[in-house]
Amino acid sequence: MKGLYSAVLASAIAGAFAAPSPVEQGPVTARAAMAACATPVTLSGNPFASRSIYANKEYSKEVVAAAASMTDSALAAKASKVAEVGTFLWIDTRARISVIEDNLKDVPCNQLAAFVIYDLPGRDCAAKASNGELAAGDISTYKSEYIDPIVAIFKKYPNTAIALVIEPDSLPNLVTNADKQACKDSASGYREGVAYALKQLNLPNIAMYIDAGHGGWLGWNDNLKPGAKELATVYKNAGSPKQVRGISTNVAGWNAWDLSPGEFSKATDAQWNKCQNEKTYIETFGPLLKDAGMPGQAIVDTGRNAVTGLRKEWGDWCNVKGAGFGVRPTSTTGSSYADAFVWVKPGGESDGTSDTGANRYDSFCGKDDAYKPAPEAGQWNQAYFEDLIKNAKPAF
Ligand code: BGC
Repeated sequence: MKGLYSAVLASAIAGAFAAPSPVEQGPVTARAAMAACATPVTLSGNPFASRSIYANKEYSKEVVAAAASMTDSALAAKASKVAEVGTFLWIDTRARISVIEDNLKDVPCNQLAAFVIYDLPGRDCAAKASNGELAAGDISTYKSEYIDPIVAIFKKYPNTAIALVIEPDSLPNLVTNADKQACKDSASGYREGVAYALKQLNLPNIAMYIDAGHGGWLGWNDNLKPGAKELATVYKNAGSPKQVRGISTNVAGWNAWDLSPGEFSKATDAQWNKCQNEKTYIETFGPLLKDAGMPGQAIVDTGRNAVTGLRKEWGDWCNVKGAGFGVRPTSTTGSSYADAFVWVKPGGESDGTSDTGANRYDSFCGKDDAYKPAPEAGQWNQAYFEDLIKNAKPAF
């Protein structure tokens, strides 16, 4: 039995560190095209149409270690396949910038490297689990010690295609949580920081998606237009950077893509939200963004949205119990507004601790529908990861 795991794991490791994600191409084609691009990359149009996402070494390492610790060989074999899926790599602290280069240098020409830019001052202003390292107001550190060094690294790799999700939850919080003191304190820094990021990261080989929450957030009828205005204003303040494609939605979220009627369409307040699934949301919000003066293409996180009916309330966001890995990353979405389904939240990493005594404990992580015990946001939760595999749709 052990021998079997080792073989599986050895191939997982090889897959994780060398072979491209098999999502959109067979292994033979993938191997044939493994070299980096010979000339600088200029992205225009859907960057995912001809490229799969690089399976970054950080997530692959976590998953390979998780598989190695499993006693169930069938489950371990499935886990090793997760290590080959291309996911976004979160640069959630200045220290984390150090892993970028290692995850850029081997990216083949038929793939793109994917990162999340996530270190705004006063981060996560309406919740506690993901509060960041920079205090509200510390915009100069964000610029000089976070964005600038990242830009310097990306400039060294003009031949590599890169996709970025820009600052999850930040601008949506300014639309719906503007009355919270922490969000008031963070607001100007979010706007200035996101605009600065968009402007500085506007390199030809980069495609950017500004985070737009999800259908249960900016999708409420009353939030749609203010949401579009908020994002478009920041985009225009950045000088309308060419490499912004549009928005990311459902990041670390749970909404179904096109379930109809939508998961919460029978709720008493459903009449106030016409965006009951992510497809409706991006196809409604995208045109509004265009009206407001910015591009409206979307990428949608399908990493953990396989199972519906798990949340008591739409806004429940923390380690939802019973979730499963969703549709694998692909640019075949069936919507002209959706560039790709992507895995942004690395499945298995926690959304927040369930330890009520912890500084970053958020009561959402203690709700009935939240998995317990759960470690701090970003930390590995082995049992949760195993459930994601067991509940995956399509199955591994
Ligand atoms: C956490 C980050 C982490 C990310 C991906 C966020 O909720 O705050 O620290 O990198 O999730 O797991």
